[in-house]
Amino acid sequence: MKNTFNKLAKRALAARKRAYVPYSNFHVGAALLCKSGKIYTACNIENSSFSLTICAERVVLYKAISDGELSFEAIAVASDSDEYTRPCGACRQVILELAGNIPCIMVNNKGNYEVNLLNILLPEAFTKNHLK
Ligand code: THU
Repeated sequence: MKNTFNKLAKRALAARKRAYVPYSNFHVGAALLCKSGKIYTACNIENSSFSLTICAERVVLYKAISDGELSFEAIAVASDSDEYTRPCGACRQVILELAGNIPCIMVNNKGNYEVNLLNILLPEAFTKNHLK
C-alpha cells in the first residue's frame, strides 16, 4: 500500500507541471489508480470566465471514466504548497460519487503526504441514496 501511495504521490506532483493556471498560478496535479491497474493523471485548467475553471481531481476522474474505467483504488492530489493539498468541497462530492470511499493521498511540494478516506473528508454526504 505504501509503495502504491508513494507512486501516486509522485505522479500527481509531476502532473501539476502541466496545469493551465494563468490566473491563480496554483498548480494542482492528480493521479488516479484504477482497479484495472491503470494510472490516470491530470491537472487543473483555468478559464478567463473564472467559474469554468476545473480542478485536477475532476479532470482525472472524467478522463478515466470516459475511457471506460469504472472502479478505482485511490486518488492523489498535489500542488506547489508546503502544506498537504486538500481537495476542495466540490471535488470531495464528485470523488465520493464516482469512486466511492477510496483513500485520498494529499501531497505537499516535497512529496510527503497524509492519507484519509473520502468518508472522513466528506462526512454525512449527500448521495444518490437520498434521491430515492
Ligand atoms: N484546485 C484544484 O485543482 N483542486 C482542488 O481541489 C482545489 C483547487 C485549483 C482550481 C484553481 O485552478 C486553483 O486550484 C485555485 O483555486
